[in-house]
Amino acid sequence: MGRSRQKMAVLVGWLAYCGAGAGKVFISDPASFTNLFIGTTNGGHVFPGATLPHGMVKAGMDTDSPGNHAGYDADPQFNVTGFSQLHDSGTGGAVPLSNFKIFPFAECSSFDKCATSLDGRKTRRKILGNGSPDDFASPGYFATNLSTDIRVELTATRRTALHRYTFPPSSVRPRIAVDITNDGQRSSTNPSMVLDPETARVKGGASFAASFGPGRYSAFTCVDFKGEGFDLRKPMEFGAWLSDFPVQGMTDLRQLYTSFVDQLGALFTFSQPSDSRPTIILVRVGVSLISADQACANAEEEVPDFDFEGVHRAARQAWNDLLGRVQVDPTGVDTETVSLFYSSLYRSHISPADYTGENPKWNSTEPYYDSFYCNWDTYRTLYPLMSLHDPATFARIVRGMIDIQRNEGWLPECRGATAMHFIQGGSNADPILGEFFVKFSDHAAALNVSATDLYTALLADAETQPPNWNLQGRQADVWKRLNFIPHDMFDGGGANSKQVSRTLEHAFNDFAISQVAKTLGKVNDGRKYAQRAGNFGNVWNPNITVPDGPASVLGMMQPRFANGTFNFTDPRHCSIHDPAHATCFLNAANRDGFYEGSPIIYSQYVPHDTAKLIQLQGGVENFVSRLNFIFDQSGLYSNNKEYFESTDEPSQQMPFMFHYANRPGLSTQKSRQVIAQFFNTSVNGLPGNDGAMGSYAAFYLAGMYPLPATKQFLLSSPFFPQISFFNPVFGTTTTIKSKGFAGNPASGTGKVFVKGVTVDGRPYKSNCFLDWDVFVKGSSVELTLTDDINVTCGKGRAALPPSLSTGGYD
Ligand SMILES: *[C@@H]1O[C@H](CO)[C@@H](O)[C@H](O)[C@H]1NC(C)=O
Ligand SMILES: *[C@@H]1O[C@H](CO)[C@@H](O)[C@H](O)[C@H]1NC(C)=O
Ligand SMILES: *[C@@H]1O[C@H](CO)[C@@H](O)[C@H](O)[C@H]1NC(C)=O
Ligand SMILES: *[C@@H]1O[C@H](CO)[C@@H](O)[C@H](O)[C@H]1NC(C)=O
Ligand SMILES: *[C@@H]1O[C@H](CO)[C@@H](O)[C@H](O)[C@H]1NC(C)=O
Ligand SMILES: *[C@@H]1O[C@H](CO)[C@@H](O)[C@H](O)[C@H]1NC(C)=O
Ligand SMILES: *[C@@H]1O[C@H](CO)[C@@H](O)[C@H](O)[C@H]1NC(C)=O
Ligand SMILES: *[C@@H]1O[C@H](CO)[C@@H](O)[C@H](O)[C@H]1NC(C)=O
Ligand SMILES: *[C@@H]1O[C@H](CO)[C@@H](O)[C@H](O)[C@H]1NC(C)=O
Repeated sequence: MGRSRQKMAVLVGWLAYCGAGAGKVFISDPASFTNLFIGTTNGGHVFPGATLPHGMVKAGMDTDSPGNHAGYDADPQFNVTGFSQLHDSGTGGAVPLSNFKIFPFAECSSFDKCATSLDGRKTRRKILGNGSPDDFASPGYFATNLSTDIRVELTATRRTALHRYTFPPSSVRPRIAVDITNDGQRSSTNPSMVLDPETARVKGGASFAASFGPGRYSAFTCVDFKGEGFDLRKPMEFGAWLSDFPVQGMTDLRQLYTSFVDQLGALFTFSQPSDSRPTIILVRVGVSLISADQACANAEEEVPDFDFEGVHRAARQAWNDLLGRVQVDPTGVDTETVSLFYSSLYRSHISPADYTGENPKWNSTEPYYDSFYCNWDTYRTLYPLMSLHDPATFARIVRGMIDIQRNEGWLPECRGATAMHFIQGGSNADPILGEFFVKFSDHAAALNVSATDLYTALLADAETQPPNWNLQGRQADVWKRLNFIPHDMFDGGGANSKQVSRTLEHAFNDFAISQVAKTLGKVNDGRKYAQRAGNFGNVWNPNITVPDGPASVLGMMQPRFANGTFNFTDPRHCSIHDPAHATCFLNAANRDGFYEGSPIIYSQYVPHDTAKLIQLQGGVENFVSRLNFIFDQSGLYSNNKEYFESTDEPSQQMPFMFHYANRPGLSTQKSRQVIAQFFNTSVNGLPGNDGAMGSYAAFYLAGMYPLPATKQFLLSSPFFPQISFFNPVFGTTTTIKSKGFAGNPASGTGKVFVKGVTVDGRPYKSNCFLDWDVFVKGSSVELTLTDDINVTCGKGRAALPPSLSTGGYD
């Protein structure tokens, strides 16, 4: 400790701030509190390898686990198939990326007997006494010990991985294979590869399938070897391999007849050091989406001297600079909670990835970000979190999105490996651009975000019917004509058409656009899009109840035909209580109108106008009893199995919605129970696919919940006596301090409820939300806590969080 904020301030391009408004540094090495293995088994699909914040290269271990979307699986029964350079984290779809695996062999009986195929080379990890595999990871670093006694370590720069293989002394013929074709889906076509027998440089690439859509992408690599502490000299043996058959002396795949084989690569035998030093071989793996030559240039530029410790140190420093902008006081808080917080913050910065300079589709001087997988997951909490502590990166991502619209016509919704992926609920780049502009319009020019181009991109999304809305965005024509997405018009899109969900998303998307229009002073547009933001009401059928449910839960969002009549979808549909056991994922062949949430959940899903929702539901009491029904705390209806789905995005805001009913104590209790029940630091500590669970949990732990494209954050009590956010664009720090902090009981009760708020010593207008201004100027926020769950937001209308229909955002 004792490091000044000055040293931690980060130099972001020209934004060299020297830590004005410094907050106290409690944790100078936040990397040491991260646990990268959270959610690395049982479907979390978390990537635990080596990467920079938003790095393109994500170097990690691949296993033969069927759930290996990010390559790794913490379950030691799954065996290692290699160490590859590109991954996504926390995704669904088909296994993405996992390109260009490197694999070390301690001992093959001979070069041509080396089992080089995926199945042939599979190796176990060493298992520790407690039954877990001997794997280690920290920001910018990954290590494992294989059962062959080879130690593997990985680190990374933005476009280059550096691997370090330490062979056992018994390994007199250390060998290393480069795998050109086996991506996660084994989808390669058009492979190419040449190797240099003098230097062992391998250049190659292939075309691969996208993960969540119909597209393909090309990827290239350039691999170089170096001895650590000894001269590696030229390889003793070299060749290309097909499946399990290495062919000595072959330097170019074109010399081989490869058409029936999809597993191809290079194999080298190296000599040991001539003295008793250990055989340590560094492998530098450059990656590019443009060409193998560019992969070589990337590697030479980013890792010129194969300095493993240097690269590792720089990566860890980059992470510490970023994570250290958020400081928590750990006094009286268990280490598990501190670790959960910094690990969640860490995972918020894995995707999207900075592919600048690697976009094969058009030339541009703008940044290029990719792995938007998907905006549906990230718009809710990830970008509002970046607004607080990483706005310069946020601005670069926004520029990249605008550049995609400029060149392809539509903002990205889902996107991976340069290919458009399927949309989920809406055109959810809109609230991301809205989030940026509503909060940073005064700084947009300095951050090189063009307000004109941003607005043009939003209007293209909102107004122009794309050829394929399934990939490009909205069913815009019918949306404009009917003011809802009808149940019986497909316009060439998919059969799984989730019309109710899309209606609700588009209403929120248009709300985001109205917020931008108002910020720009475009009064008429502001009004027009605010009106469209009210379209959610067009799919509200006031007469629907839940079979066997309470009479007070009356009215549901329902599918509607173009002629205006409603169809019917059982409110329990897709929920844990659905008698038909349907799912509402993209692979479900459904025409029922809903995506990743039951009609019951969607009946509470109007984030920008909860006041109107309360009115539709017949008042505050009904609204609260509906929330209680969703959480089913009583166990009355269903044995404590709740409708709330912590893993599905439409549920995410639900625990905080009691705020709008002036019952913030219930939000505090519920959100704290959600953390206790669903989030922990074990390898299965996530309730499902990570998606944006990192930023979601980080907000809950910080005692806040954001509403994107607005200037408000809902407020509860943080899990720490003090938390502060340093914002490098403003150069300010905002601190939230809890007077009388007394720990975090799992029950969500105790002295955790907010009964009073002051900002810079003055009583604040609400106990339920903070305005963005508080964070712009850098403030000291003090919360007074009580154990009385019956706290309120404060006196009068202004104390309630805003809603559109009550003029809250004017
Ligand atoms: C991993 O390898 C070990 C040893 O070869 C084998 O017993 C085990 O079944 C393998 N695991 C899987 C999931 O195939
Ligand atoms: C692997 O083995 C080395 C040498 O025994 C040891 O230092 C290291 O902690 C082990 N585990 C990992 C993950 O590197
Ligand atoms: C980008 O510019 C380079 C150099 O002029 C050119 O070779 C390349 O084809 C261009 N790429 C695209 C996608 O237009
Ligand atoms: C904005 O653009 C100017 C001119 O191209 C450049 O000098 C400056 O570094 C850019 N600033 C940022 C934050 O990207
Ligand atoms: C709901 O019920 C009322 C009273 O029966 C009826 O007038 C109204 O048309 C119904 N609304 C819908 C959408 O079915
Ligand atoms: C409305 O359209 C639906 C679906 O096309 C049809 O089943 C229904 O009969 C129509 N209702 C009226 C009143 O035309
Ligand atoms: C009405 O909804 C049901 C249940 O989802 C569905 O099976 C049926 O196809 C829908 N009707 C029409 C005309 O789309
Ligand atoms: C950790 O979280 C997972 C996922 O939500 C849950 O299944 C598991 O029971 C939790 N473990 C503990 C010890 O709380
Ligand atoms: C909060 O209100 C409920 C219902 O009115 C009441 O039963 C409870 O005792 C109150 N709690 C406290 C701490 O006053």
